Amino acid sequence: MSRSYKVTKALIPVAGLGTRFLPATKALPKEMLPLVDKPVIQYVVEEAVDTGLTDILMITGRNKSALENHFDRVAELEQTLMAKGDEDRLEQVQESTELADIYYTRQGDPKGLGHAVLTGKQHIGHHSFAVLLGDDVIDAKDPLLARMIQIHEETGDNVIALMEVDPSEISMYGCAAVTKTEVGDVVIVNDLVEKPKTEDAPSNLAVIGRYILRPEMFTLLEQTQPGRGGEIQLTDALEAAVANPEIAGGVRGVIFKGNRFDTGDKVGFLKAAMILGTRREDIGPELSAWLKEYAKTL
Ligand code: UTP
Repeated sequence: MSRSYKVTKALIPVAGLGTRFLPATKALPKEMLPLVDKPVIQYVVEEAVDTGLTDILMITGRNKSALENHFDRVAELEQTLMAKGDEDRLEQVQESTELADIYYTRQGDPKGLGHAVLTGKQHIGHHSFAVLLGDDVIDAKDPLLARMIQIHEETGDNVIALMEVDPSEISMYGCAAVTKTEVGDVVIVNDLVEKPKTEDAPSNLAVIGRYILRPEMFTLLEQTQPGRGGEIQLTDALEAAVANPEIAGGVRGVIFKGNRFDTGDKVGFLKAAMILGTRREDIGPELSAWLKEYAKTL
C-alpha cells in the first residue's frame, strides 16, 4: 500500500519573544495585536481552516493566556450582547470560538523555530502537517497553503513557501538556492542558508512562514544543533533534508506572488492594517478617503 501524504493538521508557533515589537509585546503576544478588529492570530487560524485544516496545535510560550482566551467562550460577554439584541457582534465573538479544534502545548524556553516545531511531535504523530507562523499573514485572496499541500501530496517532498525579495532584504530571511521544474511556480530546493549577507546569498528567494512537512522531519530536528543566534533553526533541519532526502524526503519550493505581511515587523504590521482596513465595507471608504488626503501631505 502506498503511503498517504494527506495533510489534516496545522501547527502554529506563537512562542517567540517578539522583541521587534517591544514594548507592546512586554505583556501581550505580538500575535494578539489587532489588524482592524481581529488579532493577527485569527487571520492565521482562518487561513488554516479555509484550507481544510481544523486540527490546530498552537505552540505557546509566556503570556499565552490572552491567546487561549481569545479562542475560548466568554459566557458573560455573549449574554450581554444577547440581552442587548446585538446579533452582529455576538456572531463575531462566537466566530472565534467555533473556528476549529485548537490545542495548546508550551515550548518552555523559546529555543528557536525548529525547537518550537519539535515540541509538537507528540500531537502531530505520523502524518504530514502544515506549519503556519503565527505572525505571518497571507492575504486570503491569494491561496498559498492549498497549492503547497497539493504539491506535497503529488510529490511526497517537504514544501516551503518562497518569495522574491529585494537583494538588500535577503539577510532578514532564510534563502534558497533552487532549480526550476516544468511547473512554473514550483522549484527544487538545492540549498538553504539562514539570513545570508547580500553578497553571500545564493538567490533573492526568501523563505516565508508556511511549510508542509513530513513527520520524519522530527527526526532531523532532534539531530539539529543550535545554529545562528544559539537557536534550533527549522532552516537547518530542512537543509539536512536537502542533503539526505532518503530520511525525510527532499524539499520543494512554491514561489508565492501574492500579498504577505510580516506583522512581527512594525512597518509590515502597519501596511497590513491599512490594506485590510481599506478593503473593509464598513470603514474602508472613510479610511481610503482620509489616506488619499493624508498622502498628499507627506
Ligand atoms: P521570529 O523570527 O519572528 O522571532 O519567529 P520572535 O522571537 O517571535 O520575534 P522577534 O524577532 O524577537 O521580534 C517566527 C515565528 O516563530 C515563533 C514566533 O512566535 C513566530 O511565530 N517562534 C520563534 C517560536 O514559537 N519559538 C521560538 O523559540 C522562536
